[in-house]
Amino acid sequence: MNLHKSKSLKKIRFGELALYISDDVYEPAEDTFLIAKNLKAKGLVLDMGTGCGILSILAAYEAEHVVAVDINPHAARCAKLNIEMNGVSDKVDVIVGDLFAPLIEKSIFDTILFNAPYLPENGEPNSPIEYAWAGGRSGRRVIDSFIGQAPKHLKIGGKILIVQSTLSNVEKTVRELNKQGLKARIIDKQNLFFETIVLIEAIKDLSS
Ligand SMILES: C[S@@+](CC[C@H](N)C(=O)[O-])C[C@H]1O[C@@H](n2cnc3c(N)ncnc32)[C@H](O)[C@@H]1O
Repeated sequence: MNLHKSKSLKKIRFGELALYISDDVYEPAEDTFLIAKNLKAKGLVLDMGTGCGILSILAAYEAEHVVAVDINPHAARCAKLNIEMNGVSDKVDVIVGDLFAPLIEKSIFDTILFNAPYLPENGEPNSPIEYAWAGGRSGRRVIDSFIGQAPKHLKIGGKILIVQSTLSNVEKTVRELNKQGLKARIIDKQNLFFETIVLIEAIKDLSS
């Protein structure tokens, strides 16, 4: 498919960025903007669940290199287009896959970003776009799997920034990240109608 010529392609703006979003890709929203607002990228960055690529593009302006991963192949295609359109394709690699599975086992990052799917929902996603929000019965299926794998892909002195909602047990995320030896805390939040979205920072220091 030539995404650029797709009829259902919508153009949005975020500051200086122009981004194309297709129907089967998550459109940046408050949770995206909460990470964007707090993003200070350096070194090697992993943008987990890149969606349309917005956070990869912002990170690429400051970081040495960015790896963007998404399980939704439409998102990967959309991210590639936006990364190219915004002039950072030499600094970002886009990969399709499930969390850390497509990465080399030993790859480690200075910063790992994840605007995670967090809505409690029964069953598996029925379409690619549903991966953007479907978090299984507890809302934590992807979050817990991410927490189990992310620390070993983080450099000493590196940090994880993860966004989720109060609908899927924020305290458990902080607790589990601390159990993995990281120093986790909530650094920002935003109240919406039925939930509060929360940005958690988890740092791997020398004692980790
Ligand atoms: C809430 S959207 C965020 C998209 C984008 N980062 C943003 O902030 O606008 C979550 C993204 O994670 C992706 N995703 C969900 N489960 C995943 C998994 N197991 N591995 C990789 N990506 C996943 C979804 O396809 C979706 O693009």
